[in-house]
Amino acid sequence: MKVLALCGSLRSGSLNAAVLRSAADLFVEPWEITIEPDLGRLPFFNADVEENDLPEIVAELRARLGASDGLLIATPEYAHGTSGVLKNALEWLVGGGEMADKPVALVSASPAVTGGDRARAWLTETLTVMGANVLPDGLRIPQATRKVTDGRLADEPTLAALRHLLDDLAQAVTRAREESDAFAS
Ligand SMILES: Cc1cc2nc3c(=O)[nH]c(=O)nc-3n(C[C@H](O)[C@H](O)[C@H](O)COP(=O)(O)O)c2cc1C
Repeated sequence: MKVLALCGSLRSGSLNAAVLRSAADLFVEPWEITIEPDLGRLPFFNADVEENDLPEIVAELRARLGASDGLLIATPEYAHGTSGVLKNALEWLVGGGEMADKPVALVSASPAVTGGDRARAWLTETLTVMGANVLPDGLRIPQATRKVTDGRLADEPTLAALRHLLDDLAQAVTRAREESDAFAS
């Protein structure tokens, strides 16, 4: 059972990257998580390039998404939306179609008390139009600077909530598998 994790922040001290590292710590077999190393290496989306000469880095990302059973996205909130980095990645992923029916769990960490709610709402809309199965209850992490130490979540209630989100994602993946097995037989 493979989960791909995308981080919308490129900052070395990113709170959202810290959340993904903590999520990776929580994964146990048969689950495996791959944190996509650096969405900042993707070129800006260009439909001409997509049509004529798809960059290898994009093809690889699409393949990793296609091979994953679920997706975990951690987004910062910038100007009441998600980051350009994440939006750019999603634009490249529209054309591949790998997002269809993919169970997706969303988390947002922000220093603000609003916890990145608007970025998650924004992402939910984009992912839904791409055909993803976005879990209704994502995770907001407000005042996240107080909850991260040494690049990991260090706040027990938030870690418990993250564990709960990952359980929800696991259940959605299992349901999707059962439905696809039933359809195939
Ligand atoms: C240009 C810019 C715009 C921001 N806009 C918002 C915002 O609208 N809402 C919010 O909660 N935080 C906002 N922030 C604060 C970010 O949430 C904060 O920098 C956060 O730590 C970024 O995520 P990261 O730690 O994963 O890099 C903004 C920060 C920057 C630099």
